[in-house]
Amino acid sequence: VSPEEFRQAGHQLIDWIAEYRSSLESRPVRADVAPGQVAAALPAEPPTGLHTMDELLADLDRVVVPGMTLVQHPMHYGWFPSNASLASVLGDIASSGLGGLGISWESCPALTEVEEVVCDWLRQLTGLTEQWSGTIHDTASTACLVALLAARERATDHSQVRGGLAGVARPPVVYSTAQAHSSVRKAALLAGFGQDNLRIVAEDPATHAMEPAALARSMADDAAAGRTPGAVVATVGTTGTTAMDPVAEIVEVAAAQRAWVHVDAAMAGSAMLLPEHRHLWHGVEGADSVSWNPHKWMGTILDTSLFYVRDVEHLVRVMSTNPSYLQSNADGEVVQYRDWGVPLGRRFRALKLWFHLRLDGVDAIRDRIRRDLANARWLAEQVEAHPDWELVAPVPLQTVCVRHRPAGLDGEALEAHTMGWVDALNRSGRAYLTRSMLDGSWMVRVSIGVESTERHHVEALWALMTRVAAEQLAGARS
Ligand SMILES: Cc1ncc(COP(=O)(O)O)c(C=O)c1O
Repeated sequence: VSPEEFRQAGHQLIDWIAEYRSSLESRPVRADVAPGQVAAALPAEPPTGLHTMDELLADLDRVVVPGMTLVQHPMHYGWFPSNASLASVLGDIASSGLGGLGISWESCPALTEVEEVVCDWLRQLTGLTEQWSGTIHDTASTACLVALLAARERATDHSQVRGGLAGVARPPVVYSTAQAHSSVRKAALLAGFGQDNLRIVAEDPATHAMEPAALARSMADDAAAGRTPGAVVATVGTTGTTAMDPVAEIVEVAAAQRAWVHVDAAMAGSAMLLPEHRHLWHGVEGADSVSWNPHKWMGTILDTSLFYVRDVEHLVRVMSTNPSYLQSNADGEVVQYRDWGVPLGRRFRALKLWFHLRLDGVDAIRDRIRRDLANARWLAEQVEAHPDWELVAPVPLQTVCVRHRPAGLDGEALEAHTMGWVDALNRSGRAYLTRSMLDGSWMVRVSIGVESTERHHVEALWALMTRVAAEQLAGARS
């Protein structure tokens, strides 16, 4: 494809995307395909010869779009908001079009320096002090893995340059609650801590937040038993119920044991753009690392997970490489992001944030987040006021966790009913919700925050929920 052909095909593609995005509301929210259906619609053999852009776009319509669950649909309330703002899509296109190669500062100075500056803008916008240095990882899962690798090495006096963890007399331990995202356990296992050295700390039964006293006891027990308290992962905004682990108290407990504190604010970090919500991560300045995902509620397109550390040297000491072919005269004066994480080659991810902040504007992003918070409060009030519905967790931000529980419905029948009505609602294609386990029982999460979701959509959702749940119950009883 020559630049001239690219220009023409690119215009066609942009028109197609604009058309697709404008049509979302008229489409079913959930992908309406059976397993294997998308693959079966594609030729089994690799393409031969040349194909036109028209053919490709027709296949996007025919094969791909029906296989998309529309997370930008205004009636999508599943998992978490994944807005993929069009401003950031333009940044993504710019990033791909520039084709920068980030393997060292010299391979693309702009890639490194725009990332430094943009991470610092987001630092300021979320009220973090100047002590933090930031980078962009693909996901919060990677950020957590990197934090735990650094924590592991700090806790073992850099066992990597000796016999590794296998030679450590006092194995390091990681602490989190049962509400922490599954990526925390995964990171701990990948970083070699081992299941036996992963502690699930007790949580407050009402708020599902970590109990600092239980953390202190667990750490003291481990220390007395010949282990090293290595790292705590505190979650600000858990995936299930948006529980807020008390960071200030956790930091204090961890400091007594010299353990690393990583704050996972993947979802709730966007709320820190609002000064009135920063109390939710009070104490964050005492943590060692923080991550959050603009690619969730803030609305930048995947994959943009911000990762801040207080002392970059911890990362560099664990992850730096300096092969001769990457050395240059600028070494020592510049940031080499390859030393802050796992990959060598990196994309120009910062452009997605750069475009998003500048084309949508920080004020509009903040207004949208405030709108979503008000919509969540409205829904929570309806649920609380209805005798057959219950809120099963506090609503600190935009996720409302509910159960339809008419009098007399309990036990297995309640479980079957919850699964039944949410499945029926999702099958209808008119809205999408996620079910999740809480204290051994199914509940339903309503995660509000799609860019196009206005109050009337949330009202329509509430009407749909009450109708579908009542019909499901009547069907089961008849
Ligand atoms: C609190 C929390 N942490 C981590 C993650 C994982 O995010 P990612 O997909 O960026 O790895 C999620 C995703 O939902 C989350 O809610």
